[in-house]
Amino acid sequence: MAGLDIELAGIKLKNPVMVASGTFGYGQEASSFVDLDRLGAIVTKTISLKPRQGNPPPRICETAAGMLNSIGLQNNGVEDFINNALPFLSKFKTSVIANIAGESGKEYAELAKILNQQPLVKGLEVNISCPNVSRGGMFFCFDPKATFELVKMIRKATSLPLIVKLSPNVTDIALIAKQAEDAGADAVSLINTLQGMAIDIEMRKSKLGLATGGLSGPAIKPVAVRMVWQVFKTVKIPVIGIGGIMTGADAIEFFLAGASAVQVGTANFVDTQAPLRIVEEINAYLARNKIGHYKELIGQAKI
Ligand code: FUM
Repeated sequence: MAGLDIELAGIKLKNPVMVASGTFGYGQEASSFVDLDRLGAIVTKTISLKPRQGNPPPRICETAAGMLNSIGLQNNGVEDFINNALPFLSKFKTSVIANIAGESGKEYAELAKILNQQPLVKGLEVNISCPNVSRGGMFFCFDPKATFELVKMIRKATSLPLIVKLSPNVTDIALIAKQAEDAGADAVSLINTLQGMAIDIEMRKSKLGLATGGLSGPAIKPVAVRMVWQVFKTVKIPVIGIGGIMTGADAIEFFLAGASAVQVGTANFVDTQAPLRIVEEINAYLARNKIGHYKELIGQAKI
């Protein structure tokens, strides 16, 4: 077996394949058919300070080679996460990364401070890229200065590793990544979804309750690979690749572009075993190419 372990931003992963936020809940439902102990890490659905109802339905629709979602960060709030989700996750040996979002810097910092007290939480993924909310979310990553100030504020509130999740809906993602790094981020993850829209031509109506949503799945993979490569060339902190990863070959492509690890998202809705299958497929590629550790691939794409 080739080497697959990595310590990323101070978080120990047994392999570089995590499940992406919002595609795996808090692991409870998936645990009846996925061996959570074989995942690199579980990145939770976004947690906010108080419960959020989310957006009006319909909140998901399928598109060619992808899907649109407009969930609106629905979740039960941090108290419920601590009282219900964490005790469940404590039964497994897989690192838990809590994805957090707020409507203000103060809310993000408060969440970071609360989760700092939870030994099971090994890191925070700071969601500054959700396209489906009218306050907070993506608005922090449109402006490099706002990104810097927000990350600095969270950095002061916690000693946990900080992974900042970036949006593709900006002109220069590498500039935003650099601001996150300068403000104290330990890693960046990218990309969140691309803003999109689909219309039912019979009803002459948007297929989503809130008109627009975030596009994910294989349709966005080339955009994600390009952005990972651009960010990898700009920052020194690790880059986590996300965007349409369905197979081991897709993950390898992200490693070659500069990703130190990957997150599998939309694939979870198509094939519950996707993350575990992807680990096996990475292993097979490494064996076939006589590569001792997958880290040898990171950033090795010849241009
Ligand atoms: O609408 C949502 O809950 C999506 C979240 C995200 O893309 O970060």
